[in-house]
Amino acid sequence: MLERDLLSIADLSKDEVYEIFRIAQDLKARMSRREFPPLLEKCTLAMVFEKPSLRTRCSFENGMYQLGGHAVYLAPADISLGKRESIHDVAKNLERWFDLITARVFKHSTVRELAKYARIPVINALSDTEHPCQVLADFLTVYEKRVSLYDFTIAYIGDGNNVCHSLILISAILGTHIRISSPAGYEPKKAIVEKAARLLKKSAAGSYEFFRNPADAVKKADAIYTDVWASMGQESESEARKKIFLPYQVNRALLKRAPDDVLIMHDLPAHRGEEITDEVIDSERSIVFDQAENRLHAQKALMVFLIGKSSGSG
Ligand code: CP
Ligand code: NVA
Repeated sequence: MLERDLLSIADLSKDEVYEIFRIAQDLKARMSRREFPPLLEKCTLAMVFEKPSLRTRCSFENGMYQLGGHAVYLAPADISLGKRESIHDVAKNLERWFDLITARVFKHSTVRELAKYARIPVINALSDTEHPCQVLADFLTVYEKRVSLYDFTIAYIGDGNNVCHSLILISAILGTHIRISSPAGYEPKKAIVEKAARLLKKSAAGSYEFFRNPADAVKKADAIYTDVWASMGQESESEARKKIFLPYQVNRALLKRAPDDVLIMHDLPAHRGEEITDEVIDSERSIVFDQAENRLHAQKALMVFLIGKSSGSG
């Protein structure tokens, strides 16, 4: 058996992303009728967290329960990955009790190493390089609101971080236009942009553009997306970043430069008054809580998909 992992969003093809959306929409519709098909009956999920979480933890834990399985939360202090025990040994233990692992880690290499040694699917629940579960939910949210993801333009304003990287990659996979605006020194990683260029060639649709000035990036946007200026693990840079990123705040003035019906997106948690103002995140254009809700439906679908593929039935 060759198990399927989700370490980068680019581990999925376009068809597979749409397959996950189809499963997610079906599960969501059934849940609205209080139907909970036990597609993962008696399956178990290990949730390994090196960093805090609200959305990821709740959506994975409830999601596995609603599918008929069970999830075990392992807090940072429980495992101390690589300190109390090697990543190899943790992986070799977890695979004996669980069907699936989801891990939120500092270094991307940690989730890679877990996947290398565990003979069960491993899902990246956020690393310093990517946040693939987030963008699956984000694009599911947009997909529900717009018929097509072609001709869709998303403008990401802020730090070229994990969320930004996964947004760039999923846009390239699905043929969506993405426009990025970040301050000097905080652009997305070159390796990610190069990977996106290769994916864009394959999808023969969509585009990647970089603008230093956020007003230029939002000009033709269907959605404006932002994220915190200092990610988990970068708290000591917080004050310095506040000054550097201030011109990149998503506020009323920036919105005036965008089309009237632009959607506002954020992965949350938001640092209100920093990367986004209250009046913008609380406006009618904001879909941030739809994104948060869809974490549940997208990840349920992802777990069903990965277990199906890994058991050879998918
Ligand atoms: N967006 C997101 O991943 O939220 P949490 O950090 O609360 O899980
Ligand atoms: N970029 C943020 C995302 C939080 C969900 C971080 O890594 O902290």
